Amino acid sequence: MSPDSIHMVVVGAGYVGLTTGVCLAYLGHHVTCADKDPEKIALLKRGKSPIHEQGMEEVMSLAAPRLAFAERAPEVVGDADLVLIAVGTPCKPSGQADNRYVEEAAREIAAGLQPGRSYTLVVKSTVPIGTNRRVAHVVEQTLADRGLNGKVKVRVASNPEFLSEGTALQNMLYPDRIVIGVDNPESADILRQLYRPILEQTFDPPPSLPRPTAYSLPPLVTTDPISAEMIKYAANAFLSMKISFINEIAGLCEKVGADVTEVARGIGLDPRIGPRFLQAGLGWGGSCFPKDTKALHAMGEELGEPTLLVDASIAVNQHQRQRAVDRLQDALKGVRGRVIGVLGLSFKPGTDDLRESASLDLIRLLLEREAHLRVHDPVAMEQARTLHPDLDIEYCSDPYSLAQGADALVLATEWPEYRRLDLGRLSASMRTPVLLDGRNLFDPTAARAAGFTYIGVGR
Ligand SMILES: NC(=O)c1ccc[n+]([C@@H]2O[C@H](COP(=O)([O-])OP(=O)(O)OC[C@H]3O[C@@H](n4cnc5c(N)ncnc54)[C@H](O)[C@@H]3O)[C@@H](O)[C@H]2O)c1
Repeated sequence: MSPDSIHMVVVGAGYVGLTTGVCLAYLGHHVTCADKDPEKIALLKRGKSPIHEQGMEEVMSLAAPRLAFAERAPEVVGDADLVLIAVGTPCKPSGQADNRYVEEAAREIAAGLQPGRSYTLVVKSTVPIGTNRRVAHVVEQTLADRGLNGKVKVRVASNPEFLSEGTALQNMLYPDRIVIGVDNPESADILRQLYRPILEQTFDPPPSLPRPTAYSLPPLVTTDPISAEMIKYAANAFLSMKISFINEIAGLCEKVGADVTEVARGIGLDPRIGPRFLQAGLGWGGSCFPKDTKALHAMGEELGEPTLLVDASIAVNQHQRQRAVDRLQDALKGVRGRVIGVLGLSFKPGTDDLRESASLDLIRLLLEREAHLRVHDPVAMEQARTLHPDLDIEYCSDPYSLAQGADALVLATEWPEYRRLDLGRLSASMRTPVLLDGRNLFDPTAARAAGFTYIGVGR
């Protein structure tokens, strides 16, 4: 075992926890991923990933000698030096982030810590500001209840995660920065040790996840825990705002005959703006932007500090779904009874995550207007069947059967395989060849030449 290798437990083996645990085990640490979902753990023990992420099963198998899975955190944390919390922080009805699972995890962890030892407890979940203090308090209380007051040393640190689903392992191994929020040198040291292989890029890349060309070493941003917690919210709010901004401009482009993709290119070349997150479309979704922007809004309300830009970003995003339905309504002269085929269900390509997906929002709006919905997704159909049995939709095995006799197609998720579709074949099989390209994936000229009435976003 290398002297730099850390014994650690990751509590919560979801998108963030599993990716973190698997990558850190690959890099040489000894990792146990604990999750209270027994089905997830059973699957993981068989070498299968419960989530769709490029390279996950390959890296799991390469890391297998140093990677274990467990159902009960209290049984495995005792021998660890570092415990990382990566459980979910969903939205409360008020919009605030629900810290219930973080606190529950903190209690369970404290229940398994051993007297005479010291631990670093790292909060990786995206949490309301001040959660570090709250977690420290919950741990102290639990230890006191066990009669271990002052007998276990626990240092709480913050380490927000910036991975994107669909490229989660890539982002973990080759991040643009690592942020740690610490209030003592020991926590800073162990976190630096944890991330050293990434900070110095000393590892051999897994075959399916080569190091990007011209990749430069990521900076370690070391700050206080409160600022680290805020960095995560500010980052997500800013990215959401960028997308909502270009979507607002897209609406104006449609009115004046400009092409938003040209406008985005023209402004994105300015290094102060940058080209990323300027793709107009149906708006953002996923497990993070919607809940994190709502949480920032709720934080502003609680603190008497309005979050006007964040609020506008949320409003623009909701409007974006409705606009798409209105445009379909106009093109089809009413959607009631029309057969509409939706390409893509996941909130973005590369993942089977359906949380707050624009596609599902659109489907619900169209079902309310009594359209008949057919859907296709390369990986997320099973998830949709399981998680949304209430949706009255027809699952199609391929895009061509989806298009057969349909009145319109909606491209809702820009899976790369959809770019290669034979547009002529699709349009020829439809009753009315209308294509709402909700992600501006297709070339409008080619789509029109293939027989479609093409409707893009902002062009
Ligand atoms: N998904 C992302 O892209 C992303 C990116 C950055 C940050 N985050 C943040 O990371 C956190 C986790 O997000 P996620 O998407 O990985 O969530 P997830 O829902 O995919 O996974 C959470 C896991 O935690 C488990 N869990 C809950 N309580 C537990 C407990 N007490 N003990 C053991 N396991 C427990 C659940 O069973 C689940 O498997 C959230 O705060 C999220 O905002 C997510």
